[in-house]
Amino acid sequence: MLFQERYGKGEPNDEMIDAIRADMPAGIETILAVGGGTVIDIAKLMVFGGEFTVDEFYRGLVKAEKVRELVAVPTTCGTGSEMTNVAVTALLKQNTKKGLALDSMYPDRAVLIPELVSTLPYKFFATSSIDAMIHAVESYVSPKANCFTEMFSKHALEKILGGYRYMQKAGNEAWSDRAEDFLVGSNYAGIAFGNAGVGAVHALSYPLGGMYHIPHGESNMLMFSEVFRTYKAKQPEGKIELLEQMLGEILEVPAADALAELDALLNHVLHCGKLHEYGVKEEDLPVFAKSVIEGQQRLLNNNYTPLSYEDMMAIYRARF
Ligand SMILES: [Fe+2]
Repeated sequence: MLFQERYGKGEPNDEMIDAIRADMPAGIETILAVGGGTVIDIAKLMVFGGEFTVDEFYRGLVKAEKVRELVAVPTTCGTGSEMTNVAVTALLKQNTKKGLALDSMYPDRAVLIPELVSTLPYKFFATSSIDAMIHAVESYVSPKANCFTEMFSKHALEKILGGYRYMQKAGNEAWSDRAEDFLVGSNYAGIAFGNAGVGAVHALSYPLGGMYHIPHGESNMLMFSEVFRTYKAKQPEGKIELLEQMLGEILEVPAADALAELDALLNHVLHCGKLHEYGVKEEDLPVFAKSVIEGQQRLLNNNYTPLSYEDMMAIYRARF
């Protein structure tokens, strides 16, 4: 048994994964990954044989062969990693986070156990479920969405937002009554974004995670409402109208109020400060925006509508 904590705290980085791969005993045929997105994403890189560093792998310098089976057992209700072919890691030399999508990284099986999720500390529940909610919304407006991914996005949102509305009445600490809904919702969202992708919210949030170690769900939440306000201002007609209609039905408000209502609901689940409260400096903002344009084209292709460097700067500034 290997414990990620022995190799470093927090979300994965390339050096941590290299060390874990080096310690893997010989003769392993099946990897059982029990944990959050970090553990499952690390395990996705352990299915490959051969000697290589994760940095080389993410730069596309090596082609590795899958030699082990992967069974994923999520213990958070966010990443949906058990259903996707994506592994995200910080790349220390490049000072950012990057996702790599390879069909050989799909887990062979996923096992959902609500009891594992229901004992999460509140903050882990909140950040992970917000991440899942954002997977559902970003994939819904992605140009790669289709009627199947939309179905999974919609059902994910019904489960997750239904749970949040229950918490509004019963109190935030009652979230675990709905642990199964949050776990299944995050799994549905994983299917949706595994096929249709996520976009600017994740792209803009990666430098915050890479440089300031803000947890993934929290950095996504910091970007979410502002990205969608910008989408709406730039391209008010189109898929975003269908999103507003769907959210309006789930939240029982008129479509025109749905995004604002969602913002209020999220703030009820988790309070996020401004970027400067996390230590971010104003001179970081152009560095972030440049690194998004240079390093996150895989995600930016999934945007509802294109965002320019100036748009990204305006989003970061609004949250600063
Ligand atoms: Fe995510």
